[in-house]
Amino acid sequence: MQKKITVIPGDGIGTEVIEQALLVLDKIEKVYRHRFERQEAVAGGAALNATGVPLPAETLERCKASDAVLLGALGGPKWDSNPPGMKPENGLLGLRAGLGLYANLRPARIYPALANASTLKREVVEGVDLLIVRELTGGIYFGKPRGVSKEGEEEVGVNTEIYRTSEIRRIAKVGFEAARKRRRILTSVDKANVLEVSQLWRRVVTDVGKDFPDVELSHLYVDNCAMQLIANPKQFDVVVTSNLFGDILSDEAAMLTGSIGMLPSASLGGNIGIYEPVHGSAPDIAGKEIANPIATIASLAMMLKYSFGLQKESDAIEQAIVSVLEAGYRTADLKEEGKTTVGTKQMGELIIERVG
Ligand code: IPM
Ligand code: MG
Repeated sequence: MQKKITVIPGDGIGTEVIEQALLVLDKIEKVYRHRFERQEAVAGGAALNATGVPLPAETLERCKASDAVLLGALGGPKWDSNPPGMKPENGLLGLRAGLGLYANLRPARIYPALANASTLKREVVEGVDLLIVRELTGGIYFGKPRGVSKEGEEEVGVNTEIYRTSEIRRIAKVGFEAARKRRRILTSVDKANVLEVSQLWRRVVTDVGKDFPDVELSHLYVDNCAMQLIANPKQFDVVVTSNLFGDILSDEAAMLTGSIGMLPSASLGGNIGIYEPVHGSAPDIAGKEIANPIATIASLAMMLKYSFGLQKESDAIEQAIVSVLEAGYRTADLKEEGKTTVGTKQMGELIIERVG
């Protein structure tokens, strides 16, 4: 197989974790005789530094002209006080919108070897295997009106949570279809006791559910879902929700696994998917060679599976991660008594050794 990948290392630990994922990709090429051509592009802080904007037109063009995008992380304190629209995060939002990636898949699975790494009790997290399907190009992230304006003496900030039937339908479908390939349980999360937009969401999801009688659908309010995720995370199979709720709940779900450094993601819906770790650029640990590359390497595994249909190769990466953890190796975020703490590069090498 021959494919072209756009690589956006980004900021902070983004460059460090991407380096390891690309070395894993080299190994996959060698073992399975594929060819993955790579081209780099800038977005986020790196793009602001180089070009003055968070998403240069050339980057979006490069992404569109490739088969998939692998992204590290965007953002950092240097750009925190940039004006609206000129923050590194705008690079990411622009990529998602520009590529039409309305469906964000964020799996949270507890590796048995890490059942003690969670801040929650082992018996609560053991066996957790859930998937958050987050709507990614709508809702309050993109709704208008938005902005800050003057109102006499005061300033007023506005954002708009808005969903159209078509947007809810298509993400609900992704949720149902994902559930069909798993344990056939779908939880739709909203705030329908207060928000009209959520009442519409609930109605449309229920309607889409008529085409999926084999999937057990239930609805939860977001506050209750946040609580249930901590109280009894094993009840969840697939969770489908809006952009903002999905952002929040996926960080919470990540911590069930012990570290946000473990969570991969895929953003799909257009012709080209973006694969990126859920964690951010972590400026506090950038450059220290201690970042956990596993989320990015697992994101690469998702790319092989979802964009290229390479199930065997994807499984080989997943297996390698399991094996390294079982052998007792941990990055600093997962430090555990009696286990061996390793740096970013060493974790990468240990995984590569076990691929194929
Ligand atoms: C995420 C991040 C982004 C988001 C930020 C960096 C814009 O938190 O991917 O979850 O809010 O979507
Ligand atoms: Mg987030």
